[in-house]
Amino acid sequence: MTTSFKEGFEKTKIAGSIAAGALDEVSKIIKPGISTDKIDKVCYEYINDMKAYSAPLFYRGYPKSCCTSTNHVVCHGIPSEKILKEGDIVNVDVTAFKYGWHGDTSRMFKVGEVSIKAEKLINATYESMMKAISIIKDGVYLGDIGSTIQTHVESKGFSVVQDFCGHGIGQSFHKEPNVLHYGEKGTGEKIKEGMIFTIEPMINLGNYETRTLNDGWTAVTKDKSLSAQFEHTIGVTKDGCEIFTQK
Ligand code: MF3
Ligand code: CO
Ligand code: CO
Repeated sequence: MTTSFKEGFEKTKIAGSIAAGALDEVSKIIKPGISTDKIDKVCYEYINDMKAYSAPLFYRGYPKSCCTSTNHVVCHGIPSEKILKEGDIVNVDVTAFKYGWHGDTSRMFKVGEVSIKAEKLINATYESMMKAISIIKDGVYLGDIGSTIQTHVESKGFSVVQDFCGHGIGQSFHKEPNVLHYGEKGTGEKIKEGMIFTIEPMINLGNYETRTLNDGWTAVTKDKSLSAQFEHTIGVTKDGCEIFTQK
């Protein structure tokens, strides 16, 4: 590892493991009958206990510490008094800020028993993210990532959201490059050792189109079909990549 990347990698790993830890705490309380505000509280308190900051809180006016995106909500669902019920699926997206660097991660949670369709959607989404992560190394193209995700997801009959993408991350929350979750092999920017970015595919059971609700944040599928998402923050190395958002 070139020494100039070391500080960013080490600090992103610290922030990333805090974000992952918050999701581990969330996994302990998810069940029918809890509110999405309860999830927000658990995230806020865990991150605070770790002496870190929650990056979403007050980011461009966003009012909460995490995003909770349920069923047909694609991303940026705002925690509220809304009660989760048996069969719901919910993405919880957490970004911790510590020592000046960010770690951004999200996972799907199943509320009680969920439908087989929901289960398959969640699995395909996770697999697509991990397949993309497995091909990343110095010299591959951003289009290789998009193509890997799109090919996997479409082979299962699902669709890739195009209105939101992964992003460079570091001392700022969102920076270049945009990391699209669809595309053609061999196109776009070449990935270089030392880059830090997120992969966060949003995958729909039906059509890929989305719209944003009047709250200015909540993105939903136009056709009201279910949507799933996972996210990791990774750092590119000579022969692979390091996942920062795990414990
Ligand atoms: N964590 C989201 C992402 O993956 C961004 C959330 S911004 C917020 O990029 F303001 F909605 F929290
Ligand atoms: Co992100
Ligand atoms: Co995120």
